This record gives sequence, C-alpha cells and structure tokens, in this order.
Amino acid sequence: MTTQQQPAPILSVHDLRKDYDGGGHHLQILRSVSFDLMPGETLSIVGPSGSGKTTLLGLCAGLDEPSSGTVTLAGHDMGTLSETERGSVRARHVGFVFQSFQLIGSLTALENVMIPLELLGQNKGAREKAVELLRRVGLEDRIHHYPLQLSGGEQQRVALARACVHQPAILFADEPTGNLDSATSAPIVELMFGLNREMGTTLVLVTHDANLARSTQKCLKMQDGSVIESH
Ligand SMILES: Nc1ncnc2c1ncn2[C@@H]1O[C@H](COP(=O)(O)OP(=O)(O)OP(=O)(O)O)[C@@H](O)[C@H]1O
Ligand SMILES: [Mg+2]
Repeated sequence: MTTQQQPAPILSVHDLRKDYDGGGHHLQILRSVSFDLMPGETLSIVGPSGSGKTTLLGLCAGLDEPSSGTVTLAGHDMGTLSETERGSVRARHVGFVFQSFQLIGSLTALENVMIPLELLGQNKGAREKAVELLRRVGLEDRIHHYPLQLSGGEQQRVALARACVHQPAILFADEPTGNLDSATSAPIVELMFGLNREMGTTLVLVTHDANLARSTQKCLKMQDGSVIESH
C-alpha cells in the first residue's frame, strides 16, 4: 500500500504576536493569530481600521518580524532565516501589493513592473511580460508614465501588475481595490482570481469591500489585533 502524502500548507501561521513599545506605552498590535492556507486557496482579511490587517499581511509575507510565533511560507520557517534569505524566499514565491503602492518614483510604470523579473535574473522576455500585465490592468497607454504622472487608482494597478509579473505562488494584496471605482476594480479582481484559477496562485487579500471578501473561500475577521471570526 502506498501512503499518500498530505499537501503542505503554502502559508502556516502559529501563535503570531506583534508588540510595540514606545512613548511609555506597550501596544499589542497582534494577539495570537493562527491559521493555515493550502496552495490555491483564497483568503480575505477584514476588520476595522487599526485592527492589525496590514501588520498581519506584512508578517505573513516575511516583510516584518513578529515579536513571537512562527510563519512558515512556501516550506520555509521565516523566523530561522536571515534577512537576505527571507528576501530570496519573497522574490521567488511572493507578490505583494502595498496599501501605499510603493512604486519607485524614478522608474516608469513599465520599469516598475519589470523589477521582480530583474531580481530573479529573468531578463529574457521581461519587457513583453510586463507590457502584457499592464495591458491586463488597462494601462497599455500609460507604460512610459512615471508614478507621479498617474492617478492613485492607476498607481494601484501598476502595483498589482508588478506583484503578479513573476507568477508568484502566493499573492498578498493590501486593499487592492481601495482606490478604485467599481468599473476599474472589476478587471483588477478578475486578474487576481484569473491567476488563482489558471495558475493556482494563492490569494491573501485585505479588503474593506464586502463583495470582494465574499468572493474568497476563507475569511478572517480582525478586531483589536485578534481574529474574532474565521470561516
Ligand atoms: N511601527 C509601528 N509602531 C507603533 N504602532 C504601529 C506601528 N505600525 C502599526 N502600528 C499600530 O498598529 C495598529 C494596527 O495597524 P495596521 O496598519 O496593521 O492596521 P490596519 O488594520 O491595516 O488599518 P487600516 O484599515 O487603517 O489600514 C494601529 O493601531 C497602528 O497604529
Ligand atoms: Mg492597513
């Protein structure tokens, strides 16, 4: 008899906590958050402003270090890695859309979107892939614009194109439709769920948009740094 191997979670978070000390205050920003996500699953994280959503997302993606607890991402126990090793795991497996976009102001939209491919040394066909992603987010006529020449919603779409261009195993997006009206957010949502369907990209989306939150298989509801509901 052959033993079937259970698939491993792409993201496993255990007893994650984040505290800040400053100005005489001890702040508990995240209080014992735990969950697992299997490859190809989709998760939304909802909750009021200040409840810890962005903090949790950054910890899950290895952008920040927890006060205690563990994050295992694509098989790597992130707490045991150096900053350089964490960077390499992120470059290979992770796409991240920041709430504040974080585009590089001295680079055009096209150059911003090409960055993840350049970091991986995948220069062949990089330009074509980046142009295709910018086309999919409706910005084919803005590829040579600099971030300051783009609206907030356009910058957000460039940030999503940049997060997807290297076909990450897991895409984290912090309010990916936060600056968009329903007409412009539709292709963005379609792009993310299209990646999920076509390539099995795992999605972790922070959102205030109830429709988007209903579109994911799983949902974590946060309040004051704790998960108060999960389904
Ligand atoms: N570097 C920091 N130092 C101290 N406190 C911080 C720091 N970063 C975040 N916080 C605090 O942690 C709490 C959670 O912040 P976080 O950005 O995760 O909230 P959020 O749920 O993403 O909110 P929003 O919906 O407004 O984006 C807030 O009260 C914030 O002030
Ligand atoms: Mg936030």
